[in-house]
Amino acid sequence: MSNKTLAIIKPDSVGNNVIGEIISHITKAGFKVKAMKLTKLSPEQAGNFYAVHKERPFYQDLVDYMTSGPVVPLSLEKENAVEEFRKLIGATDPTKAEDGTIRKIFGKSIENNAIHGSDSDENACIETTFFFSSCERV
Ligand code: CMP
Repeated sequence: MSNKTLAIIKPDSVGNNVIGEIISHITKAGFKVKAMKLTKLSPEQAGNFYAVHKERPFYQDLVDYMTSGPVVPLSLEKENAVEEFRKLIGATDPTKAEDGTIRKIFGKSIENNAIHGSDSDENACIETTFFFSSCERV
């Protein structure tokens, strides 16, 4: 069990000016922000980040969406971080997410679902390194 995960506040949330509200949910749930930045992904970067979905029908739409505006990646720390964070954000499809979860509150659709969270300890490290150069040093 690792104590780190990688979150990305997605373009719809940044565009809707709710970065602060979302971070407030995250910190109130006991996560510590270890690193954070505002950045705009290139199509190549977004394609690499979501390479695992390359064969899925929604891949190109996902890359287009993730490059449509700035995003805010965050390295987060808490015990059992990956699982705890996935509970906090809720189901991928906001219409199926539990009340009180970040995607239920801020997400609009399965694509515009407000926020990303790593799905395993291994991916948390890979994804953190993608934005912050190393997962051990953040
Ligand atoms: P995320 O947690 O960032 O990981 C992959 C993303 O693909 C997911 O959130 C969704 O926003 C997006 N996506 C778009 N369409 C679908 C779909 N039909 N099924 C699953 N994920 C989808």
